[in-house]
Parts: sequence; structure tokens; C-alpha cells
Amino acid sequence: MKGVILAGGTGTRLRPLTNLMNKHLLPVGRFPMIHYGIKKMADAGIKNILLVIGKQSAGLYLDYLGSGKEFGVRLTYKLQDQAGGIAEALSLASEFISTGEKFVVLLGDNLFNDSLLPYVKEFHEQPQGAKVLLKQVPDPRRYGVPIIKGTRITTIIEKPQDPPTSYCVTGIYMYDSQVFELVDKIHPSSRGELEITDVNNLFAAMGTLTYNVLSGWWMDAGTLESLHEAGSKLLHGE
Ligand code: G1P
Repeated sequence: MKGVILAGGTGTRLRPLTNLMNKHLLPVGRFPMIHYGIKKMADAGIKNILLVIGKQSAGLYLDYLGSGKEFGVRLTYKLQDQAGGIAEALSLASEFISTGEKFVVLLGDNLFNDSLLPYVKEFHEQPQGAKVLLKQVPDPRRYGVPIIKGTRITTIIEKPQDPPTSYCVTGIYMYDSQVFELVDKIHPSSRGELEITDVNNLFAAMGTLTYNVLSGWWMDAGTLESLHEAGSKLLHGE
């Protein structure tokens, strides 16, 4: 299975740190943030990875990661001209993924403890559709929140005022190549972005959106507090 890591975006919540460099290159624990996603994929046997980056700090990604050889992976870089949402960034991977192929997507600012391997294996057995990984969080209003029925998700509500559960949809997604057709069907949200939740909801409506719940810690390191908390966990080997 191939992998795609989305590492563009403007990182507004981390200004002024992100005035200097892209969010995904900021130090977390011993390494730049992007290090962890690459490592998680490599450890799960995902060796062919597309990295979607913005113009900001593009050269620094090459300085740090190069071809990916030191991580035992092969990296391909794709430039996102303008930040237009997660689903828009994902659509840039359409030429990297062949028809009928399955792949794993990580948001580069999602840091976590679990190995991806068991989830990837399970998705490999899934005949079609998508899988998302969930985590119970104290503040689900910041995230996409799933409504679950048995082994499927029936719908995801993005940043609900009144969350129906304490689970959130993390930025760890698995898709078959049908996802690119679905991205073409959605329209920009009120924040002017192509939302990944709208894409996931199309899979949910077809009854092909499965899930697993992460057992270890998970964090969206997009805010100063979570960046430091994740750094501390990673530094102390949690
Ligand atoms: C995005 C997704 C959201 C998900 C979150 C995980 O939110 O839209 O569903 O829970 O990533 O990090 P954003 O970071 O764009 O607000």
C-alpha cells in the first residue's frame, strides 16, 4: 500500500512560529514534526510515500528528508499552490495512486503512539471504501465527530456545537482510489475549503466507511499547547 502525507497549510494557529517555517518542520521532541509521520508509515511497511507540501519551506523538506533513503522509504514531493482544504490537497495525489489501489493518508500534524500496521492490515482485507481512525477526546467540538452503527460510521459531523459522542475522527484515513471521484463531487464549505469530512460522508452514505479506535495517545499538534504536550510525550518516550 502507498502513503500520502499532507503537510501544506498555513499553520495560522501557530503564528508567529509559522512565520519562520512551515508547521510540519517545527521541532517536536527530538525531531521536526514531519519525521514522525514518515516513520509511522515506514514502520507499517508503507515505503512509497507522496508528500504534499506548500511553497513555504519547500527546500527545508528536501534538506531534512531528501529522497527518504535514510528512512528506508521512497519519497515523491507534490507542491500545493494554494491551501484549499484537506480534500483539495488529497486530490493532488490522484496521479500517484493507480485505479483500484488502496492507500493511507496522514495529516502531518497528527502525532500518535499506535502502530499503523494492524489497521492497514485490516483495511487491506476490506473489499472497498474507506476507514478512519477514531480517538476519544475531551474536546470533540474541535474535530469531526462520528455517529457509529455497529462496524460502520453512518455520518460525521464537523465541529459540532453539541457533540453526540466523545469520539473524534483523527487525521488518519485509508481510502481506495474511488476517493478521487468523490472529491470531485463536493463543494467548498463555509470556510471556503474542500472538507475531508464531506468526502468521508459520501463513503458513509454508501455504507463503506469503517473505523477503528486508537489505543494509545493521539494529538493534533496544530496549537501551541498541543505542540508542547506532544513534544513532551515524544521526548519522554510515551
Ligand atoms: C481536520 C478535519 C477534522 C479532523 C481533524 C483531525 O480538522 O476536518 O474532521 O477531526 O482534522 O486533526 P482541521 O484541522 O482542518 O480543523
